[in-house]
Amino acid sequence: MNTVIIGAQWGDEGKGKVIDLLAADADVIIRYQGGNNAGHTVICDQDEFIFHLIPSGLLNPGKLGLIGNGVVIDPEGLLKEVGQLRGRDIDVENALKISDIAHVIFPYHKKLDQLEESSREGRSIGTTGRGIGPCYVDKVARCGIRIVDLLNEPVFAEKLRHNLTEKNRLFKLLYNEAPMAFEPMFEQYCAYGRTLRPFVVNGVRFLREAMQQGKSLLFEGAQGTLLDLDHGTYPYVTSSNATAGGACTGAGVAPTAIDRIIGVVKAYTTRVGEGPFPTEFPPELMDSVRTRGKEFGATTGRPRRCGWFDALIARHAVWVNGCGSVAVTKLDVLDDMPMIQVCVGYRVDGKDVDQFPSDMSVVARCEPVYETHAGWMSDTTAIERVEDLPKAAQASWKCADHSIATVR
Ligand code: IMO
Ligand code: MG
Repeated sequence: MNTVIIGAQWGDEGKGKVIDLLAADADVIIRYQGGNNAGHTVICDQDEFIFHLIPSGLLNPGKLGLIGNGVVIDPEGLLKEVGQLRGRDIDVENALKISDIAHVIFPYHKKLDQLEESSREGRSIGTTGRGIGPCYVDKVARCGIRIVDLLNEPVFAEKLRHNLTEKNRLFKLLYNEAPMAFEPMFEQYCAYGRTLRPFVVNGVRFLREAMQQGKSLLFEGAQGTLLDLDHGTYPYVTSSNATAGGACTGAGVAPTAIDRIIGVVKAYTTRVGEGPFPTEFPPELMDSVRTRGKEFGATTGRPRRCGWFDALIARHAVWVNGCGSVAVTKLDVLDDMPMIQVCVGYRVDGKDVDQFPSDMSVVARCEPVYETHAGWMSDTTAIERVEDLPKAAQASWKCADHSIATVR
């Protein structure tokens, strides 16, 4: 059984927790897009782990993990995470594999990410500043440097020299910034290459052999559908395909190899960074949900913007990803809310909107249409079966579920 887990909102849906649960039945866990902009928090036996690049399912002993070709790798961040896992007695050397054709993030990508953000003046995206976008730009422009290049020093030297010359011209002419030096960067990345070499595999072959041996694959999506480069709230998105299709291109498996796709949603909505957000809370509600839900970025520590559950967004995600089921997380954050609102549609210019609009200036003007439900006002943290949830909680979710399934 090969499963893809995707975020059905703007990221931070609690994918890490769902992955950790499902990893028990999987053999190989694969990251297929994004980079260390992701932050997957898993609390396990009172220990908190935050994964940025390494598939979070690796916390389960005996599992294999692959960082697929669709991921952009910051070797410094990766080695830090490897070190953390090693400190926790996890046999990372044997468990973790890295695709040889994944692209590598360089210091000039991070610098460009920050310079581009500050030059956007009032139109900033609110990126994580990790160099993700600029690294994907180089990939698409066909001048990126891949893991396999780090292992071939003469080829690497030539590519790095060429890229650095170009970036330094950009720094000077566009931003009036000092150039970056070739030698120390080259030396450092050659050293990363030597350290990473034992982890490097041909990802396509690795997964093909795993499937031939009857192993189960679990694809761990990062970010969420609304942050997808194509299907998200462009340009307030990340630079990769966070939707289910990204699992195939970003790992090198065929669509026919995927057996099921599970979407993860939070019982409310959050987003980090800029861009329109129709169900965003007013300030008082914002503070209480943010505090109760610990809604602060796992990667940048930024406070997350919070709002009511939005069925229009969830439906968009179900359509784009083909989710056969949806996992709902953090319902307990709403335990002491006297009243729950579920957004079942939007209105704009006096008209009903029954699909998520493509024009962000329209999204920004959309008024959410809410169905209001009584809160359940009781502790749901220890409840393990849907049937045992308070009736009011079941009614709120039924409404959300119904709105996801039907066009208003
Ligand atoms: P997980 O996997 C939430 C957001 C950033 C910014 C936009 C672009 O934890 O759900 P980028 O640095 O990717 O170019 O920034 O995307 N963003 C995330 N928001 N969770 C994430 O990952 C995110 N990864 C990127 O805040 O708005
Ligand atoms: Mg996050």
